[in-house]
Parts: sequence; structure tokens; C-alpha cells
Amino acid sequence: MNIIMINGSPRKNGATGKILAYYKEYFDKNYSGINIEIINLIDYNIKYCIGCEMCYKTGKCAITDDNVENIRELIKKSDGIIFSSPNYASNVTGLFKTFYDRVHITMEQLLYRKPCVTLTIYENLMGHKATNVLKELVMNSGGYTVKSLTIKNEFNVNPLNDKNKKNIEYSCKILIKKIKKNAPPLFSKIYTKIAVNIFLKPFVYKDKEKHKGIIESWIENKI
Ligand SMILES: Cc1cc2nc3c(=O)[nH]c(=O)nc-3n(C[C@H](O)[C@H](O)[C@H](O)COP(=O)(O)O)c2cc1C
Repeated sequence: MNIIMINGSPRKNGATGKILAYYKEYFDKNYSGINIEIINLIDYNIKYCIGCEMCYKTGKCAITDDNVENIRELIKKSDGIIFSSPNYASNVTGLFKTFYDRVHITMEQLLYRKPCVTLTIYENLMGHKATNVLKELVMNSGGYTVKSLTIKNEFNVNPLNDKNKKNIEYSCKILIKKIKKNAPPLFSKIYTKIAVNIFLKPFVYKDKEKHKGIIESWIENKI
């Protein structure tokens, strides 16, 4: 079983990083046979998407020197994903958004049938806004959110208090349970079916040559 955690905070050891480290510790201590990987996006020097739509055609990003394609491969092979970001101005961080634009997972529905956890940290207000952004990204990429943690935390204070630990542990259990069950909820199945059949397929099949990469990815994933 492969679980990947994406850290959208520019501060690797900030509150988000500390919580992801606790996730890893909990998984390692309580489950065997799980490969856990934490991806700190700040380590990758991620370039902006240049909007060329090459990924639609080739299934690969035109920018090759920052290893975003490797993160994409890890997501593709994963059974469950934890997406995390601090709240910056009522949204995810620019770092997370830059990554998401580059990783071309929405058109391909790369999260198809994958259970996800979302984690956002905020200091003062509008924490739910970043949570909603992450949940929508998951849903629009074919996945489903099994648990969302929106944690209010003072700057540079360790977020690992008893209450947060309990919620983290609970979300670990739910994620593992859903991975094993391998059965997305009905709402997610209907949402994805509508998104794919009513919106994506007519758009993509209008120009099969231009969207060859997307079509190949769908065939591979039996979408
Ligand atoms: C540019 C910027 C914008 C922020 N915007 C908000 C905000 O809108 N609401 C809020 O509650 N906290 C906001 N914060 C605070 C962060 O969400 C908070 O410090 C968070 O815990 C940082 O996570 P980290 O320790 O993992 O980096 C902002 C911080 C920065 C640097």
C-alpha cells in the first residue's frame, strides 16, 4: 500500500510539516506494509506552468528539469493521498497552486477512485476556504475526500496537542479503511461520471490528436 503526503508549506518544519511527520510516525507504528512518502514541495524549485497544453498531447509536462513528473508518478502509483497546505489569504499557498497547475491531474482524472485526506492550517480566520479549495481539487480530479482537517494554530506553536493528535489518528484509520474497501461513495461516483461524460469527454474527443495524452491516460485507468 502506498500513501503519499504533499506538503504545500514553504516552511518544511512548520505546523503542516509537524503534522505530516506525526501522520508518518502513526502509520509506521500502527500498520505494516505501508510505504509512506512525504513530498515537501519547497524542495523542488517548481517552475510555473507555461500554459502550452503539451501535457494534453503527450501526457508529459514540457518542463522537465524540476522533477514534478516524478511527483506525478508517485501520485499515480499511490493508493491514498494526503494533500496539505497552510491557509494563505483564504486559499492554498502559491507553492501548492503552482504545483497543482504543473502536475496535470484534473483532465486525466489522475485521482480516479483514490481516497484522500485534506489538511489545512490557519492562524486566525477563513481556514475553511483553503480546505474547500483542496476538497474541490480532489473531487475535480476524480478522487474523494474521506476526512478534512482544518486546524487553527498560533504561529510557531507546536500543533501536536491531544485534540489534534486524536483527529490525525482518526483520519489515518479512515484513510486505511477506505483504501482497503476500494469503493468510492455513491456521490463521488456520480460526480465523476457527470464530470467525465458530460464535460470532459465531449471537449477532449472534439480534437483527439491534440488530446492524445489525456485519452491514453483514461484508457490506462479504465475511465
Ligand atoms: C502570506 C500569508 C498569508 C496568510 N493568510 C492567512 C489567512 O488568510 N488566514 C489565516 O488564518 N492565516 C493566514 N496566514 C497564517 C498561516 O496560515 C499560518 O501561519 C500557518 O500556520 C502556517 O503554516 P506552516 O507553519 O505549516 O507554514 C498567512 C500566512 C502568510 C505567510
